[in-house]
Amino acid sequence: YEIRNCDWSSDVCSSDLTKSLGYLMIKVKKRKILLLPGDGIGPEVIAEVKKIINWFNDKKSLDFEIDQELVGGCSYDKHGTPITDEVFYKALESEVIMLGAVGGPTWDNLEFSKKPERALLKLRKELKLFANLRPAICFKQLVDASTLKPEIVSGLDIMIVRELTGGIYFGEPRGIKPIENGERKGINTHTYTTSEITRVARIAFDLARKRSNKVTSCEKSNVMEAGQLWKEEVQELHEKEYKDVELSHMLADNCAMQLLRNPKQFDVIVTDNLFGDMLSDQASMLTGSLGLLPSASLGAKNKDGEMRAMYEPIHGSAPDIAGKGIANPIASILSFAMALRYSLDLDKEADILEKAVQDVLNDGLRTKDIMSEGMKETSTSAMGDAIISKLQ
Ligand code: IPM
Ligand code: MG
Repeated sequence: YEIRNCDWSSDVCSSDLTKSLGYLMIKVKKRKILLLPGDGIGPEVIAEVKKIINWFNDKKSLDFEIDQELVGGCSYDKHGTPITDEVFYKALESEVIMLGAVGGPTWDNLEFSKKPERALLKLRKELKLFANLRPAICFKQLVDASTLKPEIVSGLDIMIVRELTGGIYFGEPRGIKPIENGERKGINTHTYTTSEITRVARIAFDLARKRSNKVTSCEKSNVMEAGQLWKEEVQELHEKEYKDVELSHMLADNCAMQLLRNPKQFDVIVTDNLFGDMLSDQASMLTGSLGLLPSASLGAKNKDGEMRAMYEPIHGSAPDIAGKGIANPIASILSFAMALRYSLDLDKEADILEKAVQDVLNDGLRTKDIMSEGMKETSTSAMGDAIISKLQ
């Protein structure tokens, strides 16, 4: 790998692993895309993304360099760890990581540090991908696929900005320990610092300015100190730098309710790691299916303008439908559209890819999860092929 000396206090990876290499840093290689299909339906949906990347390489002469590696349960099966050092370093040098999904019942009983999910969390944390963008858009063609009434969801366009490297997912102390009376105690810690809150809030405000200029910040300031700090810091940042953006604060439980009652009241929602996990799954059902929602996990730009980023569908590995060729690849394909837009500076290409998805839906093609009467049920790979023929 290409390595260079770096200022350790700058925005670089701070894992023990990296430190043990003696303050070296892997430089991001432009246009390098690392595919990490993972487990369950991950390989099926990422195979469709690969076809799309190859199409852009062939037809648009884009010089994407693709590499592919194991991560999650499949990596554990082969190497005894959910992510090897080699794969981790490949991730560090890639401009874009396209992840499928990790996990499944086969690996449920593994010791915590070996669980497939640890690979994903390590990538997020060590690559400092603190801002997770999860857009929930209800395509007009799919208004009927939602379990909610059409008038509630049609025209819906929300952006959930989830904090991704802090909060209870990573707080210390954590663990399970025996206590005096023979019982055990499970411990997790929820913490946030000023800078962790403001850097993600800044992303939300900046995004809002390009959308409908409204941010709703969600926490549980009524019961958690970390929630109270969240609210205060967002408010202060707003007063200092973003007065032009409309800001409201909402308790996270109320937000869950409002998302079902009147989701179109929201533009950008900014919230912590755990609430963002839950609220984004909930928001996905407003759009018809979990199989439609892409996501982008972004780090900060360093002084050379490099940014690490990972793109993944918000759905999981769906072991119940894995291997059947029925998974919906749209969330992954739209995740690649986000990569074109946010990492690769290819807005026009992102537009045509998003339009190709729309066109295929207009033609009535549907994977099983979004199938409805009168539509044409199609497989995972046929959906990918149809999107490519629209690109054509
Ligand atoms: C998500 C997923 C992950 C999370 C899991 C797979 C660790 O649910 O990306 O929303 O909890 O963050
Ligand atoms: Mg989730």
